[in-house]
Amino acid sequence: MDYYGVFGNPIEHSLSPIIHSQFAKQTGLDIKYEKILAPLDGFAKTAHMFISQGAKGFNITVPFKIEAFNLATQCSLNAQTAGAVNTIKKNGNELIGENTDGIGLVNDLTKNLNISLNGKTVLILGAGGATRGILLPLLNQQPKRLMIANRTASKAIDLAKDFSIYGNTCGFGLDKVKNDPVDVIINATSASLDGQMPDIATGVANGAICYDLMYGTQTPFMDWAKTNNAKMIVDGLGMLVEQAAAAFKFWTGKQPNTQEVIKNLRS
Ligand code: ATR
Repeated sequence: MDYYGVFGNPIEHSLSPIIHSQFAKQTGLDIKYEKILAPLDGFAKTAHMFISQGAKGFNITVPFKIEAFNLATQCSLNAQTAGAVNTIKKNGNELIGENTDGIGLVNDLTKNLNISLNGKTVLILGAGGATRGILLPLLNQQPKRLMIANRTASKAIDLAKDFSIYGNTCGFGLDKVKNDPVDVIINATSASLDGQMPDIATGVANGAICYDLMYGTQTPFMDWAKTNNAKMIVDGLGMLVEQAAAAFKFWTGKQPNTQEVIKNLRS
């Protein structure tokens, strides 16, 4: 049996064990996947202990993704640009770091929802870690323009500058969002945690696909999208399953059937 797990703090509500056990069943692999609560000041120590017990890899969630980036001995370009790691694979003495968040989002959009980003205008709200983690895979889809709007404008401007070698991107403050519709709006702010929706021009949502990285609840962003005539409103559950599938494939080489798992979780 191969051992895997997910590190976080808190970790109790993680759906990852359920998702990975369904992947294991689908692919006929004998896998044990557990939740591991690491102390806030003890991530690296706990992770090394897990590896020394024979684990082949693990996922990392809040608040340890940057520490996991530092723990990895090698990182993919994706993880390097994200500056964060959500998946580690043991390979001999190496701990290889990957970030599957952006790939998960892109796969949910393109494969599950049939939404191509190629040639589209995309607006991301927020310029924190969540946005940094998804930018490279989004830009790899070659949108016509990827705009980052943030409450603190300078963070959006800096982030766009960092990624401008990978595609057409720009950053500005929330007050500079135009009243013209875009194709896709992605909410990557943590405003919903405070029950808030960033105050932006409402016309931007008219006919747009509105995607919230959060899942499990109807967020203020989703309510705002509905009120302002969005064409489609999606939560981040599909992204959660797709980022897990990309991690599963990274570890095992096997591609699970994600649509089946998403359907199971929704029901
Ligand atoms: P995460 O890792 O989830 O991205 P983060 O790095 O703390 O968390 O970033 C949170 C993002 O949500 C930031 O872009 C933040 O805006 P600021 O950079 O101005 O702080 C944004 N955010 C949080 N609460 C918000 C609110 N009430 N309205 C608008 N944006 C908000």
